[in-house]
Amino acid sequence: MNQLRIIVSSTRPNRIGPTVTHWVGAQADPSQWEVKVLDLGVIDLPFMDEEDMPRNGNYAKPHTQAWASEIFESDAIVVVTPQYNRSFPAPIKNAIDYLYAEWQDKPVAIVGYGWSGGVDARADLSKIFTHVSADVVGDVGLTFPEQVTPEGAVDDDSAAAGELRTLLDALHAKVLDLDEVPAQS
Ligand SMILES: Cc1cc2nc3c(=O)[nH]c(=O)nc-3n(C[C@H](O)[C@H](O)[C@H](O)COP(=O)(O)O)c2cc1C
Repeated sequence: MNQLRIIVSSTRPNRIGPTVTHWVGAQADPSQWEVKVLDLGVIDLPFMDEEDMPRNGNYAKPHTQAWASEIFESDAIVVVTPQYNRSFPAPIKNAIDYLYAEWQDKPVAIVGYGWSGGVDARADLSKIFTHVSADVVGDVGLTFPEQVTPEGAVDDDSAAAGELRTLLDALHAKVLDLDEVPAQS
């Protein structure tokens, strides 16, 4: 079974991130994916505190090693992010900055929410994941109040919901493609 990790990017009390993420997870076909939520509000990474450069992979801190394992063991990642001040919230940048090799070629999809469907948050995250050589497969925006309520309830029948299901299929196809890459002799 392919491992799908879904990251909750917001950490504030009363956030809707976990509610939106739960809905995103429910859209993943259980015959394709085993879903695990990585909630940055629960994982509670400190601000990046490793001495060595992430590129060198010498992760000294247990929280870094645990975070690296979660990303390494995933076949694909969905990042669920709100838009804060025309971008994504700081905890997801911190979580990305901790690692390097684990992101390389990792199939990533981005789900943004906000008054404009989190359009700037999605674009900025896409740029950063591309920089760390992740394979950004696509993104979907959920717009207040039509597609997602400010309380986090998503309309199953919205165009965005359909786009997400298509995106999850594309993510799955990408994972199968990666599985079919022949081993180098
Ligand atoms: C600090 C902050 C900045 C925000 N900036 C924006 C913004 O630029 N665009 C937008 O559409 N919504 C913005 N919002 C509204 C959020 O999209 C909305 O509150 C959403 O529920 C936040 O996600 P969360 O509940 O998971 O934290 C902002 C919210 C906060 C807390």
